[in-house]
Amino acid sequence: MAITFENVYYQYKNEDKNYSLNDITFDLEGHFFAGVIGETGSGKSTLIQHINALLRPSKGLVKIDDFTVQVQNKKKLKKIKELRKKVGVVFQFPEYQLFEDTVLKDVAFGPKNFNVSKEDAIKKAKKALKMVGIDESYYEKSPFELSGGERRKVAIAGIIAIEPEILVLDEPCAGLDPKSSSEMMELFLNLYNQGLSLIMVSHNMDIVLKYCTKCLVLNRGKLLYNLKPTEFFYNEMYLNTAKINEPNLLYYVKMALKKNYKLDVNNIKDISSFILELKRCKNA
Ligand SMILES: Nc1ncnc2c1ncn2[C@@H]1O[C@H](COP(=O)(O)OP(=O)(O)OP(=O)(O)O)[C@@H](O)[C@H]1O
Ligand SMILES: [Mg+2]
Repeated sequence: MAITFENVYYQYKNEDKNYSLNDITFDLEGHFFAGVIGETGSGKSTLIQHINALLRPSKGLVKIDDFTVQVQNKKKLKKIKELRKKVGVVFQFPEYQLFEDTVLKDVAFGPKNFNVSKEDAIKKAKKALKMVGIDESYYEKSPFELSGGERRKVAIAGIIAIEPEILVLDEPCAGLDPKSSSEMMELFLNLYNQGLSLIMVSHNMDIVLKYCTKCLVLNRGKLLYNLKPTEFFYNEMYLNTAKINEPNLLYYVKMALKKNYKLDVNNIKDISSFILELKRCKNA
């Protein structure tokens, strides 16, 4: 699996000289869980919509394996359906996109749309609903009878049921309570461990530090960094340049460093790895 952006510019119709994406170049290869971070308006949602050709570059090109997405109208994008089967995108607040009259039908809609038989689509839908933690008692309910968080899970199941190779997520935990948020992240980690690659926009830096294998850092439409999260978050200069707040975890890590613990911060991604590192220092 490889995603390449080559000198990608994107300009919305109403933008004059401004580019929402400004000369973006990067590669993601192999098996990854990439975080896309940056201030509000930095271009995160614009960037990820290029990965399944919902948006096409104004200049430059995007490659997803052997698919090339480039300037609209210049060359017809071939096999767009195949691309959309390969790259599943979950938009911000996907719960607003549910439209079938039952949960099960809604989730089965995706695979059916990709020429899977009705029977198989239902099977895939049930499997996906189980993965997101929605049980059988919900199958025949209307999506509108569910809570916001439940609806979000159903919407995500709708994309998982298509069995994409890459899952692109735009702030999947926005508005969820901490428990639902961790459940959601454990689901994505599970999918990652099963071989899926993921790209996730997030405003939660603790989540990005904990789960992501790479982070793409945007600032005003430019890509500033493409680094491992520990390389980015433990570098104050990078954080300041990108105008990104440090993860909450860093407050405690810095306290321990002040107390002369010789921590190797490359090993610290969350509370449990922090505790392990503290123990290692104590025993050293
Ligand atoms: N449909 C649109 N039409 C015109 N301009 C847009 C449109 N969508 C986004 N923009 C502009 O493009 C820029 C990047 O927007 P984008 O939505 O990609 O930011 P973002 O990083 O996802 O922000 P947020 O964190 O708030 O979701 C912003 O300046 C925004 O105003
Ligand atoms: Mg956005």
